[in-house]
Amino acid sequence: MPDDSPPQAIEALFAENRTFPPPPEFAAKAVCNDPEIYARASKDSDEFWAGEARRLEWFAPWASVLNWDSGEKRARWFDGGTINASFNCLDRHVRDGHGSQVAYFWEGEPGDERRITYADLLAETCRLANALRELGVKRGDRVAIYMGMVPELPVALLACSRIGAIHSVVFGGFSADSLRDRIIDGACVAVITQDLGWRRGGKIALKQIVDDALAGAPSVSNVIVLKRVGDPIPWMDGRDVWYHDIVPRQPAQCDPEHMAAEDPLYILYSSGTTAKPKGIMHTTGGYLTGVSSTHKNVFDLREESDVFWCTADIGWVTGHSYVVYGPLANRATSLLFEGTPDYPDKDRFWALIEKYKVTILYTAPTAIRTFMKWGPSYVEKHDLSSLRLLGSVGEPINPEAWIWYRRYIGGDRCPVVDTWWQTETGMIMISPLPGLTDTKPGSASRPFPGVFADVVDAEGKSVPLGGGGYVVITRPWPAMLRTLWGDHDRYIKTYWSRFAKQGYYFPADGCKRDADGFYWLLGRVDDVMNVSGHRISTTEVESAFVDHPNVAEAAVVSKKDEITGEAVAAFVTLKGGGIGSPAEADELRKHVASKIGAFARPKYITFTPDLPKTRSGKIMRRLLRDVMENRPLGDTTTLADANVVKTIAEMARTAPPEE
Ligand code: WTA
Repeated sequence: MPDDSPPQAIEALFAENRTFPPPPEFAAKAVCNDPEIYARASKDSDEFWAGEARRLEWFAPWASVLNWDSGEKRARWFDGGTINASFNCLDRHVRDGHGSQVAYFWEGEPGDERRITYADLLAETCRLANALRELGVKRGDRVAIYMGMVPELPVALLACSRIGAIHSVVFGGFSADSLRDRIIDGACVAVITQDLGWRRGGKIALKQIVDDALAGAPSVSNVIVLKRVGDPIPWMDGRDVWYHDIVPRQPAQCDPEHMAAEDPLYILYSSGTTAKPKGIMHTTGGYLTGVSSTHKNVFDLREESDVFWCTADIGWVTGHSYVVYGPLANRATSLLFEGTPDYPDKDRFWALIEKYKVTILYTAPTAIRTFMKWGPSYVEKHDLSSLRLLGSVGEPINPEAWIWYRRYIGGDRCPVVDTWWQTETGMIMISPLPGLTDTKPGSASRPFPGVFADVVDAEGKSVPLGGGGYVVITRPWPAMLRTLWGDHDRYIKTYWSRFAKQGYYFPADGCKRDADGFYWLLGRVDDVMNVSGHRISTTEVESAFVDHPNVAEAAVVSKKDEITGEAVAAFVTLKGGGIGSPAEADELRKHVASKIGAFARPKYITFTPDLPKTRSGKIMRRLLRDVMENRPLGDTTTLADANVVKTIAEMARTAPPEE
């Protein structure tokens, strides 16, 4: 059972009532500065979204804007319309005379550079699309993509969408086991990967991990391998194909498939409250409408002059929507960066902004808090005067970090847009419009025009302004997920059963709404942790623990963390009941990282002889959270053995976290 009681109100957050109106010179020129937009969109949302969809190019027009089957929760946006995502991202811009505009400035971790124009990107996409067709990949087939942030990664997404193949990108930090699960679930027919990837001067053996994953994933016939690093790699003749052998010899033209608006564009897996990840499925026309509209309006994009930098990896939804599809559909010039903020030194981001004259930066609170910890001296070495807008995404941003971001990165001149959304929503849902909306540090402000949200109590009743509860979405939106791949029942159960009577979509986030109607998102209310903006399921980490031969039982909770927002905290009982040594704790950390990925490595491990359980055997995670947060222990009367939790509290105090 998910523990979905509303989170504690964070009163300190509300003591924060500074308000920053849009700077007048910014507002005067803003892409969206018509205050009527909110009223217009809520009066006739179909007409609003139809208007946004008309910014795209359709092969055939739609017959209806939205068909909503409220029983089966199936949304059909722009039914009857046909469209191709890669055509909208590439061909039409080149045709209209913008072929020489840079689509991506790319910088590799070692400092190598490439600039890829829209004409280059179109030609390369066509070649890879033709290569996929040569290998027998057809419309509707699933293709897994497992790469670092190289230019061929967006090319891979676009090539799939060009031929109507459904891409399933797996973040390059996932383990072989996680990759295998995802490939099997999607029955992928091909994988696109690279030999190795750069990581802080070291190398990640991506192709080797693919090989490990494919032992046990028989659906895959071919692996296309890009040479990025150049070290020798394992090879399977007949299955593996070098990118440089098959792609360059292809023609640079490839007819785009005419896809129905509701044909799937991609699957992207996200952690749920069970050990099995959810294959979130997005379709084509509505998704592209939602991401291009939000990208244009939230980021105030001026395609002829801006350099947009979303620092997210394409392996996560933020990269799908705001590195690839949104910016390209809007003919943006973006920066694409392979490395990390601290390599070779802690000023890498600022050096990049100065060098490429980045105007819009979109990054995550964990990164901002890390920069705060490093101190402003790294920032001050560089000229950041090109910046004019800052964005935040992935987790709640605390007011201190928001203010620091605005002051040190934005020079007190750039508006800050805190954008709340999810893999499931596909597009930004709650965010200021920087030319129109006041901003408050720590608040994502208000729903985007045409998005209908509310804050409700446990019964689904709207909570008056000033109160808190759960955020819900009360009407379908164009970029919404359509189903979970192969499991429509789970889709209904996960998102639509909590407020079935009202018919609301349930994101599983707590939220307060202040007297001005501003939304303050407070974090997850289910068993999903948010570590550095990455969603990690407590159950998935628990399964990884018990997969280790020495572990009898494990319970995992999140603990608040100054930098990463939340950290993974585990309580582990060993077989035989002994108390593990620090070396054993380390071995378990490694084990979890190898099962899921390094980003899921537990920071805290407490060995305990027993776990706090109810008489019916249910682990009381709430008590474990109290233990980790050093809070007074709540009601322990339902415990089978009330002493257990005292012992655990004692042991947790002495277990050192991993630095
Ligand atoms: C959290 C990332 C507060 C939230 C786009 C959500 C946020 C989960 C914010 C989705 C924000 C994301 N303020 N919380 N601005 N943005 N979240 O699927 O808990 O990786 O449910 O999508 O991140 O994470 P996901």
